[in-house]
Amino acid sequence: MIIQPRTRGFICLTAHPEGAAQHIKDQIEYVKSKGKIADGPKKVLVIGASTGFGIASRISAAFGSDAATIGVFFEKPATEGKLGTAGWYNTAAFEKEAHAAGLYAKSINGDAFSDDIKKQTIDLIKQDLGQVDLIVYSLASPRRTHPKTGVQYASVLKPIDQAFTNKTVDFHTGVVTDITIQPVENQEDIDNTVAVMGGEDWKFWIEDLKAAGVLAEGVKTVAYSYIGPELTYPIYRNGTIGRAKDNLEATVPTLNELLKDLNGVSYVSVNKALVTQSSSAIPVVPLYISLLYKVMKAKGIHEGTIEQMQRLFAERLYNGSDLQLDEKGRIRVDDLEMREDVQKEVAALWEQATTENLEEISDIAGYRNDFFQLFGFNFDEIDYEKDTNEVVPVPSIG
Ligand code: NAI
Ligand code: NA
Repeated sequence: MIIQPRTRGFICLTAHPEGAAQHIKDQIEYVKSKGKIADGPKKVLVIGASTGFGIASRISAAFGSDAATIGVFFEKPATEGKLGTAGWYNTAAFEKEAHAAGLYAKSINGDAFSDDIKKQTIDLIKQDLGQVDLIVYSLASPRRTHPKTGVQYASVLKPIDQAFTNKTVDFHTGVVTDITIQPVENQEDIDNTVAVMGGEDWKFWIEDLKAAGVLAEGVKTVAYSYIGPELTYPIYRNGTIGRAKDNLEATVPTLNELLKDLNGVSYVSVNKALVTQSSSAIPVVPLYISLLYKVMKAKGIHEGTIEQMQRLFAERLYNGSDLQLDEKGRIRVDDLEMREDVQKEVAALWEQATTENLEEISDIAGYRNDFFQLFGFNFDEIDYEKDTNEVVPVPSIG
């Protein structure tokens, strides 16, 4: 099949298996180039393991400290005449590379919010690894079916107290317009978003893993959060998704209590704003990211998901000395994004940004490139005119 990008808004409907494999190889090479992470994780469960920060975490663990990894995700498999999703092809490539390097890697494709997938995961840990010493929680989903009640929740991306008007960009066309996003209509919008993206499911995972006896002495668990600049506060940190992140962060003391007798610990890591399938769905944020990229690249401090996760593992979670946390107890790998000089320059560019000057003052080209690379496109190494086999199995799934 000849596979070309086909987009609808911020969604890409196609994915390229060889391009995805190239993307994975590049990330593996990066992690290898940084050297081994001394005393890094050895047996790792990644929940949300197929794209974005999750696959980068899996690669950082596997190729940074030779970890055995189990990955859980929700992706569409590739079948004859039907493309798989990007995360499917990412995982197919990851497992192939991991196995070639002599590393254990198996995956489970299904709804991580369900009791059934939790049980399947626990059975697999018992069968193959015995216990895990790191659990990465990197889910991003627009909906969740509650495993105990069956209630279906849909998250919304809305401001809370009042309508929010600001600039936004269509990153395909580069057209900058004003967008007004109406606030939540009721508490339910907030509660639904917290139910999907808050900490309850993370807690359910850790409770179930603990009850099954599959957590190792000294176990760590980490989930990912975001803060960002004041200009996105109304839609992000002070909006519905921010309430979910508050809830996720507030789960840490509960998990610490739960893990105490194992000398275990839980963390939230605040990560940098990056192009992923999830962040491209948030209004206003893509324009901010394209200005941020411009400023951070000019200063030589830009990082992608793999640089972020490698640094989180090597210099934060497993750096062997005291971990620096912020006043709310969070790990900060958004430190470079939030640097005062960076934020000042981004804010000044934000004021100026128009359709006419966008290509010049922002890195919208870099944004676009990253977006297409999420789906295996835009890699120089790949000939996109060439016929390619769309049926690529994930070795451990088939
Ligand atoms: P992503 O969309 O690339 O990854 C989401 C992952 O969750 C995928 O592996 C997907 O298969 C999996 N998933 C979704 N629904 C599932 C389900 N029901 N069952 C099993 N797996 C499911 O998103 P990204 O951006 O990597 O987000 C991961 C975390 O990082 C989120 O908590 C997000 O808020 C956070 N974060 C993202 C930032 C960004 O700029 N992209 C910045 C800081 C934090
Ligand atoms: Na992820």
